[in-house]
Amino acid sequence: MSDVRHLTTVADLTNLEVDRVYQIAGDTKKQIKQGIRGGQLAGLVLGMIFEKPSMRTRLSFEAAMIQAGGHALDIRGSEIGLGKREDARDVARVMSRYVDVIMIRTFAHENVETLAANSEVPVINGLSDYAHPCQALADLFTIREELGSLEGVNLTFVGDGNNVARSLAMLCGRLGVKFTLSAPAGHEFDAAFLDTAAQAIGDGPQIAMVTDPAEAVKDANVIYTDVWASMGQEAEAAERKKTFRPYQINSVLMGHAPKDALAMHCLPAHRGDEITDDVIDGTNSIIYDQAENRLHVQKGLLFFLLGAEGA
Ligand code: CP
Ligand code: NVA
Repeated sequence: MSDVRHLTTVADLTNLEVDRVYQIAGDTKKQIKQGIRGGQLAGLVLGMIFEKPSMRTRLSFEAAMIQAGGHALDIRGSEIGLGKREDARDVARVMSRYVDVIMIRTFAHENVETLAANSEVPVINGLSDYAHPCQALADLFTIREELGSLEGVNLTFVGDGNNVARSLAMLCGRLGVKFTLSAPAGHEFDAAFLDTAAQAIGDGPQIAMVTDPAEAVKDANVIYTDVWASMGQEAEAAERKKTFRPYQINSVLMGHAPKDALAMHCLPAHRGDEITDDVIDGTNSIIYDQAENRLHVQKGLLFFLLGAEGA
């Protein structure tokens, strides 16, 4: 069980391994564009547990498996009843006898860790309240693809210091990208995360926090945002809408950034809240390339974790 690799947070992969995932993602992306679909995952089964809704994560994992000759099973969280109907340890031990790789989207990050600790097959975090590592992997692949390199890149995340922001901040630091969070008081990264991230980043550029969004974007090559209320925070949505209003990515805020600054959003977006139509649909937006790359990078990740041919 000990040599099985997981992706619970971005810190589970070394930089060399991220490079490997990106190489496979780049190669398979080219192949797909040429109409070539390999059978590298033939006969392999991915079991996906969803305790929260999903469009991109569900479809990109499923499409990745099918394009590579494998299969994905979509299991509703309510059916499994993780921690209620059945202990997470037992779910992991039994599921890993049926499938070759597990992906889970859940609330408590602890569920991902418990599954990983008890699974005989790789466990992938498809989003927890704490982290969204698959998103961050696809995001930095997209930036590198767009800018040619990650060297000297400044990324500013404007909005909530949430799961997406945490994973992105950590992966940015590890890959040498300067990450700045601009969030209202009470929604910044907490000390525990900053400590964990500092250790994961090591010698890389450490995370910065700048409250004023106009100041935070002034040297940004990439401006990123996400919803103000994440899944599970619906009761706080109205209050958050007021708090986060000055943190909207709109043409005025983009005007404080360099002219060619790219706009990113993990989606789903609440148009008119955290991002306006003119930015999401504008020429600086790489949001749909970012969404597409979830497919290719997930394939890279699956090949890597499963030791598939070409990995
Ligand atoms: N970005 C992302 O994870 O989208 P879904 O919630 O639709 O999977
Ligand atoms: N922060 C958002 C991301 C959705 C992909 C959420 O957790 O709902």
